[in-house]
Amino acid sequence: MKKLNIGLLGYGTVGKAVATLLQEQENMNLHGIFRRSGKADESIMTDLVDDLLLNPQIDVIVEAMGGLIPAYDYIKKAILNGKHVVTANKALINAYGEELNQLALTQNVSLMFSAACGGGIPFLPTMISHTTPIRKVGGILNGTTNFIIDKMEREHLSFSDALKQAQSSGYAEADPSNDLNGIDTMYKLRLALAIGMHTWIDLESIDVEGIAHLKDIDIKYFTQQKYKCRLMAYGEKTVKGFIACVEPSLVELSSLEARTIENNNLTWFENKDLQRFELSGQGAGGLPTASNVLRDLNSMIEKTSYTLPSVMNEDQADNQLDHQNYLIRTPIDLNSPFLEKYTGQSRVFSGVLYRTLYEVPVNEMHKEVLRLREKNEVFFART
Ligand code: HSE
Repeated sequence: MKKLNIGLLGYGTVGKAVATLLQEQENMNLHGIFRRSGKADESIMTDLVDDLLLNPQIDVIVEAMGGLIPAYDYIKKAILNGKHVVTANKALINAYGEELNQLALTQNVSLMFSAACGGGIPFLPTMISHTTPIRKVGGILNGTTNFIIDKMEREHLSFSDALKQAQSSGYAEADPSNDLNGIDTMYKLRLALAIGMHTWIDLESIDVEGIAHLKDIDIKYFTQQKYKCRLMAYGEKTVKGFIACVEPSLVELSSLEARTIENNNLTWFENKDLQRFELSGQGAGGLPTASNVLRDLNSMIEKTSYTLPSVMNEDQADNQLDHQNYLIRTPIDLNSPFLEKYTGQSRVFSGVLYRTLYEVPVNEMHKEVLRLREKNEVFFART
C-alpha cells in the first residue's frame, strides 16, 4: 500500500509532536519539514518552502507554523498544487477558512482542522459524523486558562506563576493574550458553530470576556461560596437567531466542568432532539494537538476526510436574546443605573463588593462592563 507522504510546515511545539507521532505510523511517511532560514539543520529539513509545496511526491501539507502570514500563502499554494491540507491554526481558519475551503472544493482536496478546536479531543470530527441537526455547542475550549484557574484554585498559585507554568508546558499561544482575553476560545466557538451548524457567525457580534481581570480575591470568594470558575463558550441556534458568547462562569463543585482540571477541555453539543454529547480530554499541548492532526491524516487514508460544505450560511449573534444571571466584582462605592436595575444581592468580601445580577441580556452585560472598566477594576462571571 502506498504511504501517505506528508510535508510538515513548522517545528515548534505542535510540529515536533506531529513529527514524533508520524514516526510510529506505518501508513504515513514524513517526507520533509520546512523551517525558517537558519533553522533547517537536519537532512529532512529545508528552508525553501517550495521544496514541499511544489513537490509532486507530497500528498498532504500539515501546517503547524501558526500565525496568519505566511501560513495563509503557503496553504493556498499547497491547495492550488493539488495537496490536501491539515492545520491546527484556528486564527487562520477564522480569517480565511471560507476562502480556503472554496479553493479546496474547486481543487478537489480536503482542508481539515480538527486540531484547531479542543486540542486532542475529537470534537469537530464527532459533530461532522453526527447525523441529526445540531442546535447548541460549547464548553471549556482553552487549556491555558483552565490550567491557570485550576492552579489558582487547588494549589493557590498566583495568576502570573500559573501562566508561566502553562507557557513552559507548551499550552499557551506564543503571545498568550489571546488565551487570556478569550479570543482563542471565541475562535474555537466559531469553528464549532461552522462545523455544527454550517454557519459563519460574524466575529464582531460574539461577546467575549476572558480571565485577564480574574484576581486571587475572586478565587477566594468563589471557593468560600463553594463554586469553581471556568472559562466557557456558549453557542446556540434558536428560532429567533444565534446566540454566541465566551464568559467566565461559576460552576458547582460536583459538575463535570468543575472536575475539568489542568489543561483539559470539556466540549459538548446538543442536537435538535435535546440529546447532549460531552467529550473531555487534553485541550492544549503538543502531543494532544498532534493526535487530532493524525486523526485528520488517517481520515485521508480511509477516504473519509471532510471539507466544509460549498454553501455556508453567514449570520450575526444576537445576544440580546439570551438573559443570564451574573456575579460582578466592583469597587464598593461604584454605581450605575445598569447595576441598580439588575442587582439582586450584594456582599462585601475583603473590602470589595460582589453583586448578583439577575436576568441580564448577555450583550448588555458585556457592554456595561466595558463602560465601567474605563475607570474601574471589574470582573464578572455567569452564575
Ligand atoms: N493555547 C491554546 C489553549 C492551545 O490553551 O487551548 C490549544 O488550542
